Amino acid sequence: MRFHTRKWIKPEDLNANGTLFGGRLLDWIDEEAALYTIIQLENPKVVTKFISEIDFKASAKQGDIIEIGIEAIKFGKASLTLSCEVRNKMTRETIITISNIVMVNVGPDGKPLPHGKTQVEFVKDRLQ
Ligand SMILES: CC(C)(COP(=O)(O)OP(=O)(O)OC[C@H]1O[C@@H](n2cnc3c(N)ncnc32)[C@H](O)[C@@H]1OP(=O)(O)O)[C@@H](O)C(=O)NCCC(=O)NCCS
Repeated sequence: MRFHTRKWIKPEDLNANGTLFGGRLLDWIDEEAALYTIIQLENPKVVTKFISEIDFKASAKQGDIIEIGIEAIKFGKASLTLSCEVRNKMTRETIITISNIVMVNVGPDGKPLPHGKTQVEFVKDRLQ
């Protein structure tokens, strides 16, 4: 799993208990999943289709630095299935895991469009 994005927990990210608000974290994860998919499938039109069980294992507090990890699990016809882990950057404590996030590549009509990809690619290799 690769951890790309880091976030700094700020006052506006907290819930009523003073810890990281789960909705904010899911917002960040959904954006990370979309960005990962857009880069992998080379298509800016992708949508989130399905998110499996979400396990909030630990909380984060104001001032913590967290990092969001995404891994490609399965390249389908129009879909790409990802898994996600968010952890504390400094302690490596796991904050949340999501085993399956299904993203779907869509065409201009918003309907599923085969992406033709079968494995993870790196932008640096495409540029050579
Ligand atoms: C995503 C969407 C275009 C898919 O349309 P659809 O008619 O259900 O498409 P299909 O049944 O052909 O499925 C497309 C792919 O998604 C997968 N899929 C569909 N439903 C799924 C589910 N419940 N769980 C996991 N995968 C699923 C299919 O297996 C298929 O994968 P493949 O092409 O790799 O074989 C449509 O459901 C949609 O527009 N949903 C709303 C998306 C959205 O607004 N998301 C939030 C904002 S980004």
